[in-house]
Order: sequence, then C-alpha cells, then structure tokens
Amino acid sequence: MSAPLSNPMHGPSAFKIGVFSANADGGLSFTTVPERWTAQWDDVERAAIIADRGGFDFFLPIARWKGFGGAMKVREWSFETFTFAAALAAVTTRIALFMTVHVPLVHPLYAAKALATVDHISHGRAGLNIVCGWNPDEFAMFGMRLGEAPYEQAAEWSEILVRLYNEPAPFDYDGRYYQLRQAVSRPAALQSPRPVTMNAAFGPPGRDFAARHCDYLFTTFTDLETGRQHVADVQARGSAAGREIGVYTVAHVVCRETEREAREYYDHYARLHADNGALDYHMSRKQDFSRSHDDAAYRLHRQRFAAGGGSYPLVGTPEQIVAEMVRMEASGFRGAALTFVNYADELPFFCERVIPLMREAGLRVPA
Ligand SMILES: Cc1cc2nc3c(=O)[nH]c(=O)nc-3n(C[C@H](O)[C@H](O)[C@H](O)COP(=O)(O)O)c2cc1C
Repeated sequence: MSAPLSNPMHGPSAFKIGVFSANADGGLSFTTVPERWTAQWDDVERAAIIADRGGFDFFLPIARWKGFGGAMKVREWSFETFTFAAALAAVTTRIALFMTVHVPLVHPLYAAKALATVDHISHGRAGLNIVCGWNPDEFAMFGMRLGEAPYEQAAEWSEILVRLYNEPAPFDYDGRYYQLRQAVSRPAALQSPRPVTMNAAFGPPGRDFAARHCDYLFTTFTDLETGRQHVADVQARGSAAGREIGVYTVAHVVCRETEREAREYYDHYARLHADNGALDYHMSRKQDFSRSHDDAAYRLHRQRFAAGGGSYPLVGTPEQIVAEMVRMEASGFRGAALTFVNYADELPFFCERVIPLMREAGLRVPA
C-alpha cells in the first residue's frame, strides 16, 4: 500500500506522540461509563487510521492475556499484537506500528519471524515493545511462574533476535535460557540491524536492560521533577553502556474546549463511575508483583489508576495540554503514548486542536 519509508520513530519532532492500548477493552481505563472503549475491531481500525492521517508517530498495543474482573471484565478482551500490527500495516501508510511481546511467553525465533513479517508488510514501520510481564495469574494460564531474573532472559532473547537478522548463516546458541541449533530466520527485517525497540519498565534492572539493548525505555512517572530524575538516571545508564537511549512515557488524555468540561468529565468517568472491583484487583496485584510505578503512586493517585492505569494525566484545554507536554519535553521525555476513554471519538479533536498547537510550541514539525 505504501512506498518504503523510514520508521517515523526516527522523524525530526522533538516530542513524539503515540496511541497506547487501543487493542484492549477499556484502553487503559477502569470505568463503567457507556462510551467506554470495548476494542471492537472496526473501531480500532478507525482509530488507527485517524492517528495515521492525523499526524501521530506510533500505535502501541498492550500485551494482556487475562483481565482484571470487575463489573466490566476489564482488559479480558484484547487483541494479540503481532497479528494486530500486521492488519493495521495494510490500512495505514505512515505511522509506526509496535508489537508488544512478553519475553518469557514468546520464543525469540517466533518473534523474529513475526516481527520481520510486519516490517515487510509495513515497509519498515514495525517496532517492538519488549515486556517481561508482572501478572502471575496471566503466567499461570501458560503453566508458568514469573521468573527470578527476567531481564537476564530478556538479554539473551534480544541477542538472539539481532543475530537471527544479521548472521549470514545458521548459528548455534548456548545460553542459560536458550539453546538453539542451526537457527535461521528469513526474511530479515527491513530495518537494520533490527526494527526499533523499546522496553516497558520502571525499576533498575529494566532500566539497565533498556540501556544496553533497546532504543527507548517506555516508563511511568508521578510528577515532573521525579520524571526528570528518572530520565537522567536512564540516560546515565545508557552512557555507561556506551549507548544513547530515549525515554518515552504514557499519559491519559481528557481534552475539551474548557477546563471545566475536562475536569468534570475526568471526575465522571474515573471517580464517580470507576470500575472499583477491577481497579482494586489491578492495583493490589500490581503493587505486589510489579515495580512499574513509584510506591507513592498507589497511595496518592487512585483516580489516575482508574483513568489510565496509573499514567500521567493530561486533562484540560488544548492549550493546557500542550503546555504540559512542553514541560514533559523539558524534563527530558522524547514522547508519550496517549490513551483516551474512547479513542475513535476523541482522537479527531486531538488531531485538529492539539497537534497544530504542538507545532507552534516547537514540539513537532509538520508531517
Ligand atoms: C509504561 C509501561 C507499560 C507496560 N506495558 C505492559 C504490557 O503491555 N504488558 C505487561 O504484561 N506488562 C507491561 N508492563 C509491565 C512490565 O512488563 C514490567 O514487568 C513491570 O513494569 C515490572 O517492573 P519493572 O518495570 O521494574 O520491570 C508495562 C510497564 C510500563 C512501565
């Protein structure tokens, strides 16, 4: 459908924007409002086309196998991310298409072939988001437990992926987690030495893994000052590994003509109509098994978890949202993956009203 082009993640905009978690029920929210996202395929496709035509840089799915219960069975419904990206590659022309893969659940040889397939279908727009996972209930469905040192396994996994694309001949691999005989995978990805990669993590082992093996860390932050320190820490880990690493984050958006409308809707969907059963379960399991947030976040920001999985709020007028993104960029973030209560309904307003202001503010260059 499209001529070969370079991956939009290499584009010139100072602050890149993506859409996160549109493949899953609820997006990233825990709410019972009737307009909530149910991730029906036709709606997902519409949202991706709006983002593609409207100037977004990337489309990034969440990797989920099991939901969090509650009144809405939040996140139980989610589309698998390789096949998802392949389908979107056929209906979009310029946006980068990420796949999110659980290292312990997907063999690197399978991932290399699937990722290369999407890279060819999309003419070089594929991206890989590497996650180690955190939900023991999800792993139990595979008959597995969470690993002791997941990022050690992820390092071997990543090394194998790169070698599969770049070794001229079949090779043997003898690691702690993988033993391969005469491994080969063709075609190689179009992007060299591999498609763009990010690692979604928060804690020190994840930061180090990203610094050594990925182009970007995808992470959370609670306030701009701790966010700035987080970025500086990750960049220092990159420098120690002799690499440059970009840091992306995640934010939930409620953008309206007036601040009052935005704040009222934020309260409506994420406080008055929170899906508290699913939210309680999610927050307690995340606190026990994941380090993907500051400890304080669980105590202080329940509404942020209901609104967007504990991500940063961008709530207000287009001008206020751009001013906040200017501060995020000044804190060192290279971009953000955004979530909405209803992506297909809300993305057009964002593209029309926010993106032009981002250009005026110097965050973006025209597509
Ligand atoms: C921004 C962000 C996005 C994440 N996305 C996913 C995901 O799609 N699926 C998943 O199972 N875990 C996801 N995680 C959790 C990570 O897989 C990781 O296991 C968790 O953050 C554990 O702590 P660590 O970050 O210190 O490794 C995400 C984490 C962050 C920070």
